[in-house]
Amino acid sequence: MSLKDGSDQRLTMTYEESEDIPSNQSTAATMGDVINRRYGRREVLRGALAMTAISAVAGPAAAIMAKEAKAAMKGSFDFEEIEAGLTESHAVAPGYKADILIRWGDKVEAGAPDFDPMNQTAAAQAKQFGYNNDYIGYIPLPLGSNSSGHGLLVVNQEYTNEELMFPGVGKQGDDFMGMTKELVDIEMAAHGGSVIEVKKQGGSWTVVEDSKYARRITANGTEMMLSGPAAGHARVKTSADPSGKRVIGTFNNCAGGVTPWGTYLMAEENFHGYFSGEVAEDHPEAANHSRYGTPGGWYAWSQYYDRFDVSKEPNEPNRFGWVVEVDPSDPASTPVKRTAMGRFKHEGAESLVNKDGRLVVYMGDDQRFDYLYKFVSAGQVNLNDRAANADLLDDGTLYVAKFGDDGKVTWMPIVFGEGPLTPMNGFESQADVLIETRRAADLLEATPMDRPEDVEPNPMTGKVYVMLTNNSKRTEDDTNSANPRAKNPGHIIELTTPDMDHAALEASWDILVLCGDPAEDGSATWGKATSENGWFVAPDNCAIDHKGRLWVSTDGNKAGGSNRNDGLWAMETEGDLRGSSFNFFRCPIGAEMCGPKFTPDGKTLFVAVQHPADAGVDKWEPFGRKSTFEDPATRWPDFKDGMPPRPSVVVITREDGSEIG
Ligand code: FEO
Ligand code: CA
Ligand code: CA
Ligand code: CA
Repeated sequence: MSLKDGSDQRLTMTYEESEDIPSNQSTAATMGDVINRRYGRREVLRGALAMTAISAVAGPAAAIMAKEAKAAMKGSFDFEEIEAGLTESHAVAPGYKADILIRWGDKVEAGAPDFDPMNQTAAAQAKQFGYNNDYIGYIPLPLGSNSSGHGLLVVNQEYTNEELMFPGVGKQGDDFMGMTKELVDIEMAAHGGSVIEVKKQGGSWTVVEDSKYARRITANGTEMMLSGPAAGHARVKTSADPSGKRVIGTFNNCAGGVTPWGTYLMAEENFHGYFSGEVAEDHPEAANHSRYGTPGGWYAWSQYYDRFDVSKEPNEPNRFGWVVEVDPSDPASTPVKRTAMGRFKHEGAESLVNKDGRLVVYMGDDQRFDYLYKFVSAGQVNLNDRAANADLLDDGTLYVAKFGDDGKVTWMPIVFGEGPLTPMNGFESQADVLIETRRAADLLEATPMDRPEDVEPNPMTGKVYVMLTNNSKRTEDDTNSANPRAKNPGHIIELTTPDMDHAALEASWDILVLCGDPAEDGSATWGKATSENGWFVAPDNCAIDHKGRLWVSTDGNKAGGSNRNDGLWAMETEGDLRGSSFNFFRCPIGAEMCGPKFTPDGKTLFVAVQHPADAGVDKWEPFGRKSTFEDPATRWPDFKDGMPPRPSVVVITREDGSEIG
C-alpha cells in the first residue's frame, strides 16, 4: 500500500475505525462455519443467549425502567447515575470530584519548559507529558507497599492527532500537509509513556515536581532491548542494529499492565500504521507484513527516517508489536521488549500470580477477527525479591483461545514443533513462531473474535473479563457462539477458571452482556436494573475495584453512533442484577475513555481522557465539522482561547473521602 493510500484511509475515518481493518485471511473456515453447518446460525445465537446468566434479559420495553423502580433494586453500587449524552465537557456522578491531574504538555521531567502550543519543540515534548493517554497503572510507594496515598502513575501515550496538536496542519490535504521533520520529531516524542510520582495531600492529588522517578519514554529517544526467543534472530536485524537486540523506541502503546513486582508493561498495538513503502510480493517478509496490515501509512515518519520505510528496512516492523517491560524504579533502566509474549496488536497485559506461583498474563489482539491470548511463565514469581523476577517474562508458554459452543474455552499452546508449527509450514524455530504469532494462531484454528481489547482477571473470583469492542464486518454467515452477532456493537465475555487455576488448559465461558441500545436493538442483553443511561456500545478498557466489582470504559459511543459521549460505567457481575450497568463518568465531546485504575483502598480512581474534540464531532449538531488546532469542537480542559484540547488524566475522589461506587 502506498503512503498516499494509507493516509487517505486515515483521512476519511476516525482513528478507532481505521485501526481495525481486518487482515486475517484465514477465516475462510472459521469455527462459526463449522458450527453453522452443524446447527444453523439461529440455534447458535439462541444457544449463546441461553448461556448468559442474566436472569432477566432486558428487552426493549423492560430495559427502560422508571427511576423509582430501579432505585428499589439494591445492587452493590450506591452512586446516583449521570445522564448519558453529548456534552462539551466531562461529568461525574453527584457527590464526586473529577480534577485534572496532568495534561498533554505538562512538565514530567526536570527542566521541562511550560507548555507553549505555538512554539512546540521536540526537546520540550521529550520532557513533557505525551499525547493521547491510554493505559494508567498505579504502583504504590514505597515499592512493595500497599499505599493508596502515594505512588507512581505509569501512563501510555498511544498516538497523536497532528491536526489538533499543531497550528496549520490538517488531515484535509494530501500527503500529511505541513508535516515537517521538526513536527514529526515532536510527534515521536509525544508517543510512548510517562512515569510520574503522585501524592494525596489534604484529600487532593498532585504530581510531585522534580521526582527522582519522573521519566518520559518515547518513540525516538529511548533505547530498548529485545529479549526472549526472538532476540538476535536474523529477522529482527537491521542495518542500524546488526545485533538484532537493540531497538529505538516504542509507539502505539495502548492498554498495558503492572506486574506483581511493580514493573510497567506497555502493549505495542497498531505498530503497522507507522510504516510506509512497499516490499516485493515475493519478499520473504511480504506475507508476514500483510498479515499485520503493514505498512499502514498513517504517519509521515518514513519521509524523514528510513527505518519506517519497509522497502529500505523490511525487518524493522518485526521489532514492534511486542510487550515492553519497564522498571519505573530507575529512570535510567533500559526497557525490554519481551518476545516470549508474542507479536501482535497487543491491547493490554494485565496479570496475576496464579495459585501455583507462576505469572499469568491475559492479552487481546485488537483487530477484527483476531484472537485472545494468555502467557504463563515457566518460573514462579518472587514477591520478596523484585530483582529475582527480572527475566521471568522471557521464558514461558503463550496460548491462544478456541471457544467451543459447549461453553468451554481451550487454551492452545503456541510452541514450535507442536501440531502445525513446523518447518512444513515455514517455521524453523520458536523465534519464527513468535514473530508470526498471528499465522501460528491461524494454523491452530483459534476463534476469530470481535476485536479483543482489555482483558482483566478478577483475583478474588478467578473470573476473567474480556472486552470485545465491536465488529461491523462480521456477517450472519461468520458468527460463532462466542461472537454471536453480525455487525456487532460490542460485548463482554466472562471466563471462569477451573478451581481458580489460570494456568489450566481449559476454562468455561459465558456472555456477560451483548451491548447496544435495548430500545432499538432487540439482541442487546443487559441486567434488569439498566436504565436508559446505563447501556453503552464499544467496551474497551476495564478495571476491577478493591471489592472485585467491574468497571467498563468505552471507545465508540459517539455522535452518529450511540449519540452519547464515551465514559465509564459500573457493572454488576453477580446476583440477580448481573449485567446491570450504571453511568458514572462522561467524557468531553470527541474523547475516548481510557485508563480506569483504582488505588488499593478504592478511594481514588484515575481515568484517562483521550483525543478530546476528535471522534464524531462532525456529526455533533452544535459543531458539525471536523476539528482542527484552530477550530476544535472543545478546548477541554483549559477552555482558553488559543489553547488546543489536551488529552489529560483525571483523578476522581468522593467529596466525603470515602470509597468510590
Ligand atoms: Fe488502542 Fe485497541 O485500542
Ligand atoms: Ca485508544
Ligand atoms: Ca483500547
Ligand atoms: Ca478501541
